[in-house]
Amino acid sequence: MSKANHIGIQNHHLTIGGVDTVSLAHEYGTPLYVIDEKRIRENFRTFKSAFPDADIYFAAKANWNLSVLRILASEGAGADVFSDGELYAALLAGIQHDRILFNGNSKTAYELQMAIDSGVRVSVDSMDELHTLSDLAIKSGKAVDIAFRVNPDVSPETHPKIATGLASSKFGIGYKNVLKAYEEAKELPGVNPVGIHCHIGSQITDVSPFGEAVERMMDIAEQITRLGITLEFVDMGGGLGIPYQKDMATPTPHDLADTILPIFRCRSEAIGISPRLVLEPGRYIVGDTSLLLAGVTTVKRSARNFVGVDAGLNLMIRPAMYDAYHEVAVANKADLAGEETYDIVGPICESGDIIARDRKLPLIEPGDVIAVFDVGAYGFSMSSQYNGRCRCTEIMVSDGSVDVIREQEHYGDLIAKQKIPARLLV
Ligand code: LLP
Repeated sequence: MSKANHIGIQNHHLTIGGVDTVSLAHEYGTPLYVIDEKRIRENFRTFKSAFPDADIYFAAKANWNLSVLRILASEGAGADVFSDGELYAALLAGIQHDRILFNGNSKTAYELQMAIDSGVRVSVDSMDELHTLSDLAIKSGKAVDIAFRVNPDVSPETHPKIATGLASSKFGIGYKNVLKAYEEAKELPGVNPVGIHCHIGSQITDVSPFGEAVERMMDIAEQITRLGITLEFVDMGGGLGIPYQKDMATPTPHDLADTILPIFRCRSEAIGISPRLVLEPGRYIVGDTSLLLAGVTTVKRSARNFVGVDAGLNLMIRPAMYDAYHEVAVANKADLAGEETYDIVGPICESGDIIARDRKLPLIEPGDVIAVFDVGAYGFSMSSQYNGRCRCTEIMVSDGSVDVIREQEHYGDLIAKQKIPARLLV
């Protein structure tokens, strides 16, 4: 079972935040996303306690449900947003514009204009973007505070699809060329270079690459200070891994702080600058806060023991996309011993729609409820309507109370924006 204290067992049933998951599944139906408010707050506070002087910008891509963003806003979080939609949601949820950084490797002119109009800072990813932003800002009669997204060429040990700071990665400007970018930005109207930003990857379980990255960032900080730029912030991105597997040891935010802070402080002092440190955790804040409850429709014993459930890669794409491991349990038999080895498979017409492989679980039968663990980050936020499936209800538990934070979609939502040309209707 999970190490986290918000998950428990009562009367053979799995609980989250003290609420019986089987009753939730019966009342709201499956599939069902369940998130624990208290755990979001706890994770945020733990992270913040490791970096008391830093600004924590929650990575909205991990989970941009308005209630989640609202809770984090109330904890004092800012936001890393990666699209116009995430910016819209973050502002709507009450995150202050001066605590938002607009990231993205291929922002449209529309998105840049929205950033200018909202007064948020922009992490500029390319020289073309710099020029477009400058032109738009001049036309708007405004000046935008910017950072450059630096590609530090640091290699974290993680899945290749979520390593973002390799020289070959699509993100940012290579650290060897970025000085030129600052030189140009300094002379360009409409943009004020005040920050420096990187993000080396996600689900990182060894903190040493963060040390390498912060050294590299502070080298650049030194060079741009010599150019006469006053550096207001150094943003080291997100990436701290979480223990998806039982007994997996992962670094804590305090371990991350022990790696980053001494270098950051010592180098800032040596350069004679006092920028703010910004961090952009996503997964650490929300990853373990949620369960996905899926109903068992069939148990098929063929070459393997397939347990068919009503949630698949449409609602949780991580296993199919990154071969990610998520713990699973039979929510209504939570304290029974494992008897058979099963593959838990979704209802999507893709052979890769497998949520969990080779799991020893209590005997499973139709009607049972499977709980998929640690789905709070990149779970619902990466969901789709593939195969014409409506997205499910999301609920939040909070000290025993239960609220719907997103209603289940219906067929109308599937076709809401579709149109049949009149000529096809005759
Ligand atoms: N900042 C930036 C600029 C990012 O691109 C990301 C994640 C983060 C912060 C937050 O990283 P975190 O603390 O959550 O690791 N869908 C993948 C993860 C993609 C991460 C993309 N960027 C997954 O499910 O593993």
